[in-house]
Formats: sequence, C-alpha cells, structure tokens
Amino acid sequence: MKIAMIGTGYVGLVTGTCFAETGNDVICVDVNAEKINKLKDGHIPIYEPGLADMVKSNVKKGNLSFTTNIEEALQKVNICFIAVGTPMGEDGSADLQYVLSAARDIGRYMTQDTYVVDKSTVPVGTGEKVRQVIAEELAKRNSKLQFDIISNPEFLKEGNACADFMTPDRVIIGSEQPDSIETMKELYEPFIRSREVFIIMDVKSAELAKYAANAMLATKISFINEIANISERVGADVNKVRRGIGSDSRIGYSFINPGCGYGGSCFPKDVQALIKTSSEYGYEAELLQSVEKVNYAQKHILAQKVQNIFGSNLAGKTFAIWGLAFKPGTDDMRAAPSIELIKTLVGNGASIKAYDPKAMKIAQQYYLKDFDNIIYSKNKYDALYEADALILVTEWKEFQSPDFMEIKGRLKGNYIIDGRNQYKEKILEKFGLAYIQMGVK
Ligand code: NAD
Ligand code: UDX
Repeated sequence: MKIAMIGTGYVGLVTGTCFAETGNDVICVDVNAEKINKLKDGHIPIYEPGLADMVKSNVKKGNLSFTTNIEEALQKVNICFIAVGTPMGEDGSADLQYVLSAARDIGRYMTQDTYVVDKSTVPVGTGEKVRQVIAEELAKRNSKLQFDIISNPEFLKEGNACADFMTPDRVIIGSEQPDSIETMKELYEPFIRSREVFIIMDVKSAELAKYAANAMLATKISFINEIANISERVGADVNKVRRGIGSDSRIGYSFINPGCGYGGSCFPKDVQALIKTSSEYGYEAELLQSVEKVNYAQKHILAQKVQNIFGSNLAGKTFAIWGLAFKPGTDDMRAAPSIELIKTLVGNGASIKAYDPKAMKIAQQYYLKDFDNIIYSKNKYDALYEADALILVTEWKEFQSPDFMEIKGRLKGNYIIDGRNQYKEKILEKFGLAYIQMGVK
C-alpha cells in the first residue's frame, strides 16, 4: 500500500518505519524542516531502541522517504495517517490545531480516494471535525474524491516503541465501513498473532478507548503512590505491600511501581484532556482530578525528602542526579519529574551534577536551558564528586547495580535518595550509605 504519514515524531516515525518494514511504500511528512533534513541525512532525531537501524534499512530499500512537502507526500497515496501532536492547551484540553491543519492539507492535496486514519490521541468528536474540514476543502476544489475517517489510536510506549508496534496487544479500528475495516486489517496483518487482536468499534468509542487506557494506567500509578505515602506514615514498606497486592491476579504487578510521579508526553496531558472533555459534557471526573492531584504532589516529593535532610535553604549544597528522561530507554523529557526536582533544588540555592545516558543534550538545549547551576557529567560516577547526596530519578539499567564502593568513595555525603526504589537497603547499609526510598519509613 502507499501510505503518507503526516507528523514524523515519536509515533509517526515509528509507525511509518514499521509499515515500511512490512513492505509498504511510506512517505513521512513533517513541518519541521530540521527534523526532515536530519532524517534525509541518515540521522534519527529521537532515541528509540532499534529504530535507527530499521529507518536506515528501509530508506535503503526504497520503502521509506521523508519530505516537508505535503503536496508531494499525498501523490497517489491511498492511506493517509495523521500522527501530529495534540499537546495540552492552556485550559487543559487537547490542542487540535495541528490535527485540523493536517486535515486541511489532506483536503487540499489528496489525489485519489483516501482512507484517512487518525493515530493522534484526540478527544471524542475529533473524527467528525476532521471529516468536515476535509469535506470543506474538497468542496472548494469541486472535487468528487471520496474519503473515510478511521480512528486507530496508538498504544506504544516510548523506550519500547518498535517492539510494542510490531507485537501489539490490540489494534483498535474505529470505523463502521466494511472496506475501511478490511483495509486496516490487511495493513496490520503482519503484526498480529491472532485475529482477536483486532478490536473493531465506532469512531467515538475508539477515540475514548485511548484516553481510558491512559487514564486507567495513570490511576494505577497514583494509587500506588498514595499507598506509598500512607506506608511512610504508618511505618510500612510499600515494596512489600506492592508484592502483597500484585500477587492477586485481578490486580497484577504492572504499573504499580511507586515512584516520583508519572511524566511523559501522554499521561499528564491525556488525563487533563479527559477531565476537560468530561466537564464539557457536564460531568465532573472527580477520580481523574484526584489522579492528577496526587501526581502533581508526587513530583515534588523527592525535593521534599532532600529538604527534610538538608533544610530548605540549599545554598552551598551539590546534588548528583542520575536520570533526566521521564523514563528509561528514551531521550524524551516532556513532563519529566527531574524538571520539577531541579527547579526546586536550584531555586533554593543548590548546584546540580547531572547524568543521563540519552537525555542530556535535549535537557541542555530545551528543558533545563534556563538553569545555570547544572554541570552535565560524562558518566554516572563523575557526577558524584563532591556531591552531598545522590538522587535517582530514572531507573536506567546502568543505574540498577552500580559499584556502591565507588559511590561511597566519590560522594561527600552518604545519602542516596531514590525516586524509583531500585536498591536493597541492607546492601547499602554495608557500604555506610543511608538509603531513602519512596514509601518506606
Ligand atoms: P511529536 O511531538 O513527537 O511529533 C509530532 C510531529 O508532528 C512533530 O514533528 C511536528 O512537527 C509534526 N507536525 C505538527 N503539525 C504538522 C502538520 N500540520 N503537518 C506535518 N507535521 C506536523 O508527538 P508524538 O509523541 O509523536 O505524538 C503524536 C500523537 O500521538 C499525539 O497525539 C500523542 O498523544 C499520541 N501518542 C503518543 C505516544 C508517545 O509515546 N509519544 C504514544 C501514543 C500516542
Ligand atoms: C504511555 C502508555 O503506557 C502507552 O500505552 C501510551 O501509548 C503512551 O503513554 P509512555 O508515556 O511512553 O507510555 O511510558 P510509560 O511506560 O507508560 O510510563 C509513563 C510514566 O509513568 C513514566 O514517567 C513512568 O516512570 C511512570 N510509571 C510507570 C510509574 O511511575 N510507575 C509504573 O509502575 C509505571
């Protein structure tokens, strides 16, 4: 099939590349010329395991190409995906300007009958808006071309995006048109282990299913974080409580890891957007409001733990931070808990020595560019020199079993404050290190 992918970010680039991998002819288009030029030069603008090799091999085979020219991208295309961003608007709702602009371009430039597939996460009713915009543009051209809108939300996780896309738990196809459904099934066939993986529904239910999935996962995280906060106060250990509840197959172990709050480009904005959609329809989503409230507080807990030890004025103190990305396996720093932490520490006079395997460049260029008091270290141990404490924010594999002797030798102080509960307290005690975790008294 000939596919155009509008939006070449985390989702568009992964989706386009995986469809190219199964023999489709894919052209990825983006308004960001810097991104497209990098891709044309063989550089991948994001870090995602396995992606670079797959992009290169498919470009070489001629299955994958990149452009900033939407008119060129839509030539002879029969499936056009919309995978542009839907960031949080000022009022908490999803900002649809990029989706609607992509829809306008489709209406202006499509050259044959087209399946328009919405992969961006969009509020219920957006499919209909996209349909109207395309129809308006076609009418301006007096065009009789036909199109259908299909909702096909994406469930990949960053850091595991290619693998998630290649072996999906489910492929939701929001459409009531038999030919649209069949075309989507044909496209996804190489990725599915059985036909039950396809879940067919109407467009609105598909749009809501995406938000519901993210809201459910965010709820699990805020729930365990609340239990962690209760554990600390009553003298229990949330790591043990987690084992106790996760062993119940109705609850399960996944997404109940306590931590310093959820970040990333999806959960924070999608929970807010669902709250906003609900209120537009006259329903107050109280549970989801609490999920967000708990998460907001949780993102400040690491800084509070630091200030409980070192006092509120941190002038003259230096902290080593391991992990800046919002999770391991990615260079993405959108809504990362490290940002809130560093803001508070630096705001109270501290200096920071940071290390992250992949996110330091992006941190320096965008997310932490306004902070002077940060030194970026070339490896994890360098960050420790003369630091009063080590603070762990992201559970990268290389942090999971470090040389504690080396840590003790380099740190000025003896505290390890861990936002991801990665170590055993007893082991650290042997090295004379004091271990502060989330949810443990
Ligand atoms: P992103 O910001 O990484 O990429 C979006 C891209 O779209 C950008 O490169 C931007 O320049 C481009 N763009 C914007 N307007 C355009 C236009 N009119 N024409 C062409 N290109 C345009 O965003 P992302 O993380 O890939 O997310 C895309 C969508 O997928 C969002 O709705 C998001 O909620 C959803 N989603 C994201 C993830 C994830 O893990 N990142 C997972 C599932 C779903
Ligand atoms: C999420 C969804 O998992 C994915 O299905 C959707 O398509 C996009 O949003 P992503 O944001 O890439 O994926 O990462 P995820 O692994 O879900 O983690 C999100 C945040 O939750 C991270 O900050 C992570 O540290 C945090 N988290 C996750 C926890 O604090 N505890 C957990 O148990 C799991």
